[in-house]
Amino acid sequence: MRVDAVTLFPGMIDVPLSESIVGRARQEGFLELGFSNPRDFTEDRRRTVDDKPYGGGTGMVMMAEPVYRALKKVRKKDSYVILLTPKGRRFDQKLARTLAKKKHLVFICGHYEGIDERITPLADLELSIGDYVLTGGEPAAVTVIDAMTRLIPGVLRKEDATVNETFTEGLMEAPHYTRPAVWRGKKVPAELLSGNHGLIAGWRRAQSEALTGKTRPELARGKRTPVRRAKAVKK
Ligand code: ADE
Repeated sequence: MRVDAVTLFPGMIDVPLSESIVGRARQEGFLELGFSNPRDFTEDRRRTVDDKPYGGGTGMVMMAEPVYRALKKVRKKDSYVILLTPKGRRFDQKLARTLAKKKHLVFICGHYEGIDERITPLADLELSIGDYVLTGGEPAAVTVIDAMTRLIPGVLRKEDATVNETFTEGLMEAPHYTRPAVWRGKKVPAELLSGNHGLIAGWRRAQSEALTGKTRPELARGKRTPVRRAKAVKK
């Protein structure tokens, strides 16, 4: 899969995505990551990319033209363009699965107070990673690219690592333990040491449900009314 980021700060994306599993996925060709910097598409001597907001207010706004040109450089016919903004649709695991199947994604990362609104219609999707405001879209792009890349078939050595994990079934994953069986007086739950697969599966399911009910009750509620939820989404 090919991903391009339109960003004033490519290093904010390139550096974190050079390590660990995504770094390896890039080296092995599962993910091709490129950058297009609006500053490279300016024409004035100071390479200006932002200006004061019309109507007044604090902060600076990224100008439309350099962003437009940077986007034009990387956008192809089959590209899916995502504008990262705290005002967008909330990112989740389901969307990560959808995006992992796309051929070419382009992320537009705003910085400062945001981008001139006239850029918004150029995006196929406005996307937020949560209800908080970051310094720019770059850390959000890192999050989305990371979540997506690990779902590309072949990236994780064990394919089933993404089958039973948190959110896949609308539940949080059960806790994990490894050796030693007793660590500083704390024991691993006996069920996990039993060697009885049925017992282990039952324990994990109960733990998942209890954990989800405690920390994410809205996910647990969703589990009990899947049919009504599906209808509501279709409307
Ligand atoms: N830019 C600033 N905050 C953001 C957020 N929460 N999600 C996506 N892009 C952002």
